[in-house]
Amino acid sequence: MKGLILSGGKGTRLRPLTFTQAKQLVPVANKPVLFYGIEALRDAGITEIGIIVGDTKDEIREACGDGARWGVRVTYIEQPEPLGLAHAVLTAKDFLGQDTFVMYLGDNILKSGITSLVEKFKANKPNSLILLTPVPDPKMFGVAELREDGRVARLIEKPKEPKSNLALVGVYMFDRHIFEAAGAIKPSGRGELEITDAIQYLIDHGFEVQPHLVSGWWKDTGKIDDILEANRLILEGIAGRIEGTVDAASKTNGNVVVEAGAVVRNSIIRGPAIVGEGTEIVDSYVGPFTSIQPRCRIIRTEIEHSIVLEGSEIVDVGARIDKSLIGREVRIYKCPPKPSAYRFMVGDKSEIGIK
Ligand code: G1P
Repeated sequence: MKGLILSGGKGTRLRPLTFTQAKQLVPVANKPVLFYGIEALRDAGITEIGIIVGDTKDEIREACGDGARWGVRVTYIEQPEPLGLAHAVLTAKDFLGQDTFVMYLGDNILKSGITSLVEKFKANKPNSLILLTPVPDPKMFGVAELREDGRVARLIEKPKEPKSNLALVGVYMFDRHIFEAAGAIKPSGRGELEITDAIQYLIDHGFEVQPHLVSGWWKDTGKIDDILEANRLILEGIAGRIEGTVDAASKTNGNVVVEAGAVVRNSIIRGPAIVGEGTEIVDSYVGPFTSIQPRCRIIRTEIEHSIVLEGSEIVDVGARIDKSLIGREVRIYKCPPKPSAYRFMVGDKSEIGIK
């Protein structure tokens, strides 16, 4: 069985971060979202992995390399234009050959991994296995209607009036019949070949599509709130580990990771939280569910429920920073007392909340 990870797309809902970075490389608990997918496939025993790439191919390639670090073999497959998930499957036809495969959307994270699902697929041998989970806002997803006997009746991509609250999770298993389906469907309203429509084709043509309800949480990290929530959920499960320097005037409570080369002085870190390599935390408070990447400086500042990316500096911020996603090499600092003013140099599509 092979793996196919989709890592193209433009990430418009995550601008401005995605002006300069692939959305699948945004870190959650200091690890790119995409790596969680590679690890989930590897843990399920899948070692031949194709990664579909688009405009951000160079970055993705640089981040993942040949996959040796995970003990897998990565092949990059270019999708010239983001024309939909079913189009991505067609693009990967040569790589996939006659094998069964798991398709994994590169911005999805599943708490319980996919090992038991892969086992279920191998044991039952349906033509496709789809993952479903109840969501509060089904209009945002592909939605499944089930029959009374639990079989799939109908799948609709982003319905205006959803008939159920069961969303399609971004992990699918297929055999080769999906190529026939993806080749037969027409583009949707958004101009894409939808995998949801291709699976509906399988159902309509008598192929076996098995639903599986996901236990444990699932996150599609396409928007800032979802990234912060995924960060919270992953941090909830981390074990504390202090490898950097924490001085006697500082205190850590709960599960706190301080990576090697990080320095914490006269500060409080309340876990779960992670402080990356070479980061300095001085006279500050870092609260729960915060991930601070390598080489940052947090000085005389309070921050929680947030993610700070590599090389950023936050100095003397008077109020507590909460639920924030701060990009790479950002500087946030206190202005001189006169004139009393805010001072911004902010990229396109940024968002700033002031109290
Ligand atoms: C895609 C699928 C949708 C699925 C979702 C899961 O949506 O089209 O059916 O529920 O992924 O993350 P998109 O991210 O393209 O809007």
